Formats: sequence, C-alpha cells, structure tokens
Amino acid sequence: MSTGQKEAAPRKALEQINNYITAKTIESVKRELGIDRIIKLAGNENTNGYSPKVKEAIRLSLEGLSYYPDMNCTILREKLSKLHGVEEEQLIFGNGSFELISIIAQTYLEEGDESIIAEPSFGWYKNVTWQMGAKVVSLPLKNHKVDLEIIRENITDRTKIIWICNPNNPTGTILTEKELREFLQELPSGIILVLDEAYVDYVMEEGYPDSVSLLKSYQNVILLRTFSKAYGLASFRIGYGIASKQVVLQLNKVRLPINTNALAQTAAAASLEDREFYRYVLQSNKEGLKLYYKTLTELGLEFVPSNCNFILFNTGLDGDTVTGEYYKKGILIRSGKEFGLPTWVRISIGTREENELVLETLKEILRRQA
Ligand SMILES: Cc1ncc(COP(=O)(O)O)c(C=O)c1O
Repeated sequence: MSTGQKEAAPRKALEQINNYITAKTIESVKRELGIDRIIKLAGNENTNGYSPKVKEAIRLSLEGLSYYPDMNCTILREKLSKLHGVEEEQLIFGNGSFELISIIAQTYLEEGDESIIAEPSFGWYKNVTWQMGAKVVSLPLKNHKVDLEIIRENITDRTKIIWICNPNNPTGTILTEKELREFLQELPSGIILVLDEAYVDYVMEEGYPDSVSLLKSYQNVILLRTFSKAYGLASFRIGYGIASKQVVLQLNKVRLPINTNALAQTAAAASLEDREFYRYVLQSNKEGLKLYYKTLTELGLEFVPSNCNFILFNTGLDGDTVTGEYYKKGILIRSGKEFGLPTWVRISIGTREENELVLETLKEILRRQA
C-alpha cells in the first residue's frame, strides 16, 4: 500500500540483509497442501517431543502467569551451575540461542570489525554481523569440517568474533579438544571465540571437547547451548550461554531485562530432571542415524557421518527437486542449495516410523528420476 509518504530509511547496515529463511510451520503446510499429516524434518527439532515431567511442571505453573517471570532464572540457573560446575554469574539465558547470538554481536561488533564464519554453517551469525555494520569473513570447510588452519590464516587486527558451530550445522562434523586447544593457544587476545554447541548432546565421536574446562584458561570463549534440540523445547524458546563472569557482565548490558518467559524456565528446569527421557531421545537418534547409514550405503549415496540430530547426504539429483518431491508428500526437509551444496539435502532424524518413510520415499524418488 502506498500512502504517498517517503519511506523512512533504515540503517545503512541493513541494506545487504535478506530476510532470514525459516522452515515452514506444520500448520501452514497443512493448509497449503490440504493434508492432515505433515512430517517436519527441516528444522532439526525433536520429533520425540519433550519429557512428560515438563507437561506436569507446566500444568502446575499456570497460576502465576499474570506476573512477570523471574528475571534472574533462579531455579534454572542453580541447576545449570551445578550441572556444569560453573559459577551462577557465568550463565546467561536467552530467548533461544538465536537471541544470545544477537546479544554477542551487539556487545562486541563495531562497524568495520570482522567476524569469521566457516561456511556452510548456521545462518544467523552472518545476519547479526551485518546488522552491526561489521564484515563477514566467510571461509570454506575442509571435508565438511571447520578448517582451523584457514581461519588462523585469515585473522587480522580487525577480527573481533570467530563463530564456530561445534558440531557444525548442517554437516554434523566436530572439532576435537586437541584441535581447539591448539587453536586457542595461538589465538591473539581480544578476540571472542563463540562455540555454538546446540547439538552437543548428540555427539558420538571421540575427542569432543570438555568445553566448560576451556573457560578456565580462556576468558574470551563463549559457549552456547539450547533446550530446543535434545530436550525438545523448541517452541518454548530458551537457550543459555556459559562464559567468564566479565563477558557475561558485558552481554547483560544488551540483553532485554525480561527475555525468557516463565513457561520456558519451568519447562527447561523440569526437563533437566528427566534423564530417562533424555537417554531415550539420544538412543532413538542413534538408531535413526544407523538406519540412514545402512540405507544410504546400500543406495551408494555419499553422506557425512553425523554428531547431530540430522544428516547431510548427496542425492546425486537436484536438491530443490528432491525437496519438492518430499514436500508433495507432506515431508519437509532442507535442500542443500542454500548451503552451497546443490545436490545434497539435510534431513532431521525423526522417529523410527518417520525415518523409514523418508528412506522409502527416497528410493521412490531415485527410481522415478533414474
Ligand atoms: C547451530 C544452531 N545454533 C543455534 C540455533 C538456534 O536455536 P534456538 O534459538 O532454538 O536455541 C540453531 C537452531 O537450529 C542451530 O542449529
């Protein structure tokens, strides 16, 4: 609609930003396709749901919702401080780790600063860098893995943040403790290293870092965790960061005073109490991955062994076409095109029944396209 008024100019820094591509919701696809059953495997959510203990805790907490939530996240803070063996002041909570990524950029990036991202990776690092008028230094992976060597070579005196997603989304690969420690030893001081560990719970490969212990020696490291994946609380919106007290003090200057809602805090705290459900989720994921490895090997398709709740593989066909074929059946997956891998797809691991259906459908698609 045009009112004839001149459009107000947004900040210059925003000119290069396209709208963030988000996965479609189940409801919107139901409406569009007129199908009742939609299987969403495009956003790496937990299709096993969340712990029954969460449901009960939420039911009991409904009374207090006309009040503002606990701005300090006291109960959750106490639990996580014990779980990780860190001081309570080393924790910061966010409306998902998405928000924490924004907070980090707002705290540290000046116009013209550089932020290093090994790509393909989680897309939000790039957006927040641009929002601040800083420069994205995009570096390639090596064999689908973050290449610390090339990162080291590209550090300049303008480098302010290095974003490392470990394990990496969308490839599922990890950096080991040894590799990270060697890198940190040579990292010039004054650079923030963000280790986004959204998928930490799913890691199976040997050598994954005890990242909390890195904080003892390196005060500019920030760890990011989320309740959206293994705990299945994606819709509640809650994640947290662990860092030195000094860093958390700075991050808190930018954070909205009330950024995590009461239900999210209650759900997160309750989910930590149910280790049985947590183990079930991890076991289900492990079995799902095993089925993918077996089937993809039989089909002769290249894949990246995953430490996450998704798998990236090469269909040998156009990734958008494959994604479109799945879509017609009400199965939502992610095309590799947006990651610069045009013949690949990324599919979240679902329940056994969902995984079997996805793989049967894959065989059908391959037969039809042959
Ligand atoms: C690597 C990574 N970091 C952060 C997030 C954001 O998670 P949330 O905001 O739900 O905590 C995601 C979501 O998929 C992710 O893949």
